[in-house]
Amino acid sequence: MSDLNFSLTLPGEKDPLPQTIAARTRRVYDALATVYPVATYFFHTKAHSYVLKHSGIQNGDRVLEIASGSGEMLRHLANINPDGVTIGLDLSPKMAAGAQKRVREEHPGTSAHCGAVDVRSLPFADASFDAVVCCYLIELLGREDIYRTLQEVRRVLRPGGRFSLVVIGQNRTLFRHAYRVGASIVRAYWGRLVESETPEMLQDCGLTVVGDQYLLQGFYPSRVLISQPTAEAGLAQAKAQSSGDSSYFHAT
Ligand SMILES: C[S@@+](CC[C@H](N)C(=O)[O-])C[C@H]1O[C@@H](n2cnc3c(N)ncnc32)[C@H](O)[C@@H]1O
Repeated sequence: MSDLNFSLTLPGEKDPLPQTIAARTRRVYDALATVYPVATYFFHTKAHSYVLKHSGIQNGDRVLEIASGSGEMLRHLANINPDGVTIGLDLSPKMAAGAQKRVREEHPGTSAHCGAVDVRSLPFADASFDAVVCCYLIELLGREDIYRTLQEVRRVLRPGGRFSLVVIGQNRTLFRHAYRVGASIVRAYWGRLVESETPEMLQDCGLTVVGDQYLLQGFYPSRVLISQPTAEAGLAQAKAQSSGDSSYFHAT
């Protein structure tokens, strides 16, 4: 109950999640770990399928999924990558443990793993993955941590690798209003919507968008953004541009 907050966010108010509230988010998702697959089934499967088709992942790749939740996408990734390495990470130990159990049961012969890790810092070497996937995480991060996490993604992605990012769409008015109410009650579960700003954030972090698609599953809107590390020249330009804007956390 201590994670509930009944004070509603007023229109025009500043970012309602100025900082990541990781401890509360971990508690909420730990508590929901056993029922979470239902939410994924009803709201996320369409975007997951789209990513599987357009992520460019090939069998034999090194694939990282951040914020893998209860592991539905992780299992699909292991399925299309039986000869490669598929790693999932999630903040919630219960989510990660469930995902690990299911991926091992369904794909016993594959190198697929899931661990409990806060993905704002990734415990991997530079350029160590061919593909990174992230579905419905960044709504839950404070602004600076979105930048930090996207920079980490860029760091671990090899040149030419692909980053598939799914965010909740802001293009449906009724949904947007309903989300605002839900989010203001359990901020740690819903976060807040950031989709319209996401392409610019990717660009600021050295990731060039190469694919952009809105999807609708029932009433639930998603946007899939596929990006690749920006070539060094373009990255220098993006950094120079973003350093002129004091509202952003600057790439270092
Ligand atoms: C909305 S769920 C999405 C789960 C899954 N990706 C899907 O598509 O169904 C968000 C997930 O992000 C995880 N998460 C939140 N903050 C995180 C962080 N800092 N590091 C890693 N995982 C995080 C939560 O534990 C939760 O499992």
